Amino acid sequence: MTTRAKITGTGMYVPERVVKNDDLAALMETSDDWIRQRTGIEERRYIDPGTQPADLAYAAASNALESAKLKPSDIDCVILATLSAQADFPGTSFFLQEKLDAGEIPCFDLRAQCSGFVYSLSVANSFVRAGTFRRVLAVGCEVHSTGIDISTEGRDVAVLFGDGAGAVVVEANDDPSDPSEILAVNLHAEGRHAKRLWVEIPGSGNTPDRITPEMLAQKRHYPHMEGRFVFKNAVTRMPEVLRETVASADVGLDDVDLFLFHQANLRINEFVANQLEIPAEKCLNNIQRYGNCSAASIPILLDEAARSQRLEPGNLVSMTTFGSGFSWSSALVRW
Ligand code: ACO
Repeated sequence: MTTRAKITGTGMYVPERVVKNDDLAALMETSDDWIRQRTGIEERRYIDPGTQPADLAYAAASNALESAKLKPSDIDCVILATLSAQADFPGTSFFLQEKLDAGEIPCFDLRAQCSGFVYSLSVANSFVRAGTFRRVLAVGCEVHSTGIDISTEGRDVAVLFGDGAGAVVVEANDDPSDPSEILAVNLHAEGRHAKRLWVEIPGSGNTPDRITPEMLAQKRHYPHMEGRFVFKNAVTRMPEVLRETVASADVGLDDVDLFLFHQANLRINEFVANQLEIPAEKCLNNIQRYGNCSAASIPILLDEAARSQRLEPGNLVSMTTFGSGFSWSSALVRW
């Protein structure tokens, strides 16, 4: 018999430094009005020099472990989703594992950009259901502020992103009377659009050198995004996969108590909710305060929902993403 998996703890951490739209407007040609109207973002958080991605991940993971009433030594495996790894290799998960002092447990990074956390949740769910591990820590962690072009040339991307981390503990649920469960997860990707939203260097595809002064001068180490194309795909794929996941769990859209969408753009999320006739009060957004934290957005949102009593035991919570790759995904969880 397969063991069901449930989320038993959540945590988040964002750096203290608040960067408001007006702060960016002092550094590039943009405005608070433009950013708010197009994206809904009012401010985001940036790390201070010296802070490492694993520091954010550690704080979020510690909060998740505390809420699950577990110690680091209780964890069997760490999965960390990121597109902004601490080093080219090894993954940020290894630096996190060291800080957790969790013993010689396996850890690995998962690269599926803004869909990375839901992909990680799917892997954690499969590990538990297969009996491979009983307790998996799944983390989303991003430090974007050191990898964006904070100038007028890079403004289309720079205004969108923020730093932060979120984490959950996924555990085996052996109690038949406990309905908490990761009910369904659906994952998709379309690699032919990989270059519509990507960072090209450093990368081993660049020969003979991964990075040269010329490439840096051409700003190829900063994200390149075809914003409108990404927007159009997001508002098509997110409703598609959300319907698929709700159907695979054999419930109706109306049965879902809370909808969490990836925090890339408030307009995308309003568009998706309108298309599916989801009432605004069933959607939670925090992009206004944190911007787009890629793989960290969904677990940060989930933690805020859990701690603000927006989630009660037995509720159905849906998490849906779209991001670079292109990658998109949806998960449905009985809380
Ligand atoms: N401030 C002021 N003006 C700006 C800014 C800015 N920050 N950025 C662009 N502009 C200008 C452009 O130069 C352009 O000027 P022009 O008309 O003189 O040429 C004008 O504003 C309109 O630009 P568009 O790019 O067409 O603006 P759009 O309405 O598409 O909004 C946005 C841009 C907000 C980025 C939108 O396209 C979007 O949200 N796309 C999706 C982003 C997304 O979902 N990313 C996926 C997740 S990220 C991940 O997975 C890593």
